Amino acid sequence: MPLSIISGTHWGDEGKGKIVDYLSQKADMVIRAQGGSNAGHTVVVDKVKYVFHLIPSGILHPGKICILGDGMVIDPAGLLEEIQLLQNHGREEALQRLFISEKANLVMPYHKIFDRLQETFRQDSRIGTTGRGIGPAYEDKVARWGIRAVDLLNQETLSDKLSIVLNYKNAILEKVFLQPPLPRDTILNEYFNYAKKLSPYITNTSIMIQEAMLAHQKVIIEGAQGTMLDLDHGTYPFVTSSHPVAAGSLLGAGLGPVNTIESIGICKAYTSRVGEGPFPTECLDETENYLREKGGEYGATTGRPRRCGWLDGVVLKYAVQINTLTALVVTKLDVLGGLPHIKICTQYQIGEKITSSFPINPAEWKSCQPIYQTMDGWESDISGIHHYLDLPGATRDYIEFIEDYTGIPVALISVGPDRNATIVRKELF
Ligand code: IMP
Repeated sequence: MPLSIISGTHWGDEGKGKIVDYLSQKADMVIRAQGGSNAGHTVVVDKVKYVFHLIPSGILHPGKICILGDGMVIDPAGLLEEIQLLQNHGREEALQRLFISEKANLVMPYHKIFDRLQETFRQDSRIGTTGRGIGPAYEDKVARWGIRAVDLLNQETLSDKLSIVLNYKNAILEKVFLQPPLPRDTILNEYFNYAKKLSPYITNTSIMIQEAMLAHQKVIIEGAQGTMLDLDHGTYPFVTSSHPVAAGSLLGAGLGPVNTIESIGICKAYTSRVGEGPFPTECLDETENYLREKGGEYGATTGRPRRCGWLDGVVLKYAVQINTLTALVVTKLDVLGGLPHIKICTQYQIGEKITSSFPINPAEWKSCQPIYQTMDGWESDISGIHHYLDLPGATRDYIEFIEDYTGIPVALISVGPDRNATIVRKELF
């Protein structure tokens, strides 16, 4: 199909980076459509590990057009660091294929300050944000204070816009938070400097995307974060400030409801979450440590240890529904090897009630207990296996249980970080 949307099925960190890199082999264009440097997409190629926060994971394939789309919030300093990373690895060629949407909003220094201040004021109800200024940047976009990538192309516009926004921000900083004001000229010079370096990449990406679609090119939209971090559909308020669901990907890329979409959900073989908020299948015992250490479950952006637990099938089914998923990719299946039993949550018990839906009411989160289906584990290391039928029977039972339970096929299985550690059951794209 010409358009594939990749979405995380849980709370992010499902291994989307590797899968986007893998699928990019067949793509012409890869687009990031939402979020910013709160994301951390890890790709390992030829034993070199790249972590991208902003640049689409398809960038490591020669010839693929990579776009930072309309719906993103871009931290220029972070983007320049990633550009430098590519240069350091001799990948200058990649920079010819990198484009930034004129409409993308910029993360400004005050966004990071407000991110921190808001977290402090939330006290025990803090969200556990990545501290990258994402929420305040989206707040400004919605409140129409945003400075967009296109504003970097004209010094006068940038200067005028910053003066007005900064008057407002400094008033809040000084009068509400009793903080020193931010110096306009320092910020302006910093952003003039970014403008000089980033201007060549800023363009009308909507036209590029429309033309690619009209020419029946293969386009991937790389979702960041995950379904349960979606501003509307996630565990609000413990969510991010954008729309990681498939519909948000379309909006953030500037596309309408085109009718030939493959909606692919990336689902880790177990579940993790970083930051605060409900997580019914969190293990809180030695299984959590096992998964965290074997799976390297430490935040790619903040280094925070991730909370780990069994696969939450209730959330997975919800992700199938909310993203209209047509196929699943199960990642990090190798991490489960060595556990005597494997569990998958199929329902919750909340008080007397048994339900197959994630509770929206925060009052029910504390008493929400997972009901598990327990399956046999497998002892052997599966990371070198390339064919589905070579997997141990118990491993296949687990995959087939996921298929039966969700009603959609598991098309790919990832058994290790490298591109080649991927088992194909059904060709995608
Ligand atoms: P923010 O996006 O920095 O505002 O953080 C809001 C919540 O989303 C926090 O719980 C973060 O830990 C979480 N979050 C944001 N981006 C990611 C991601 O890429 N992976 C996993 N969690 C994320």
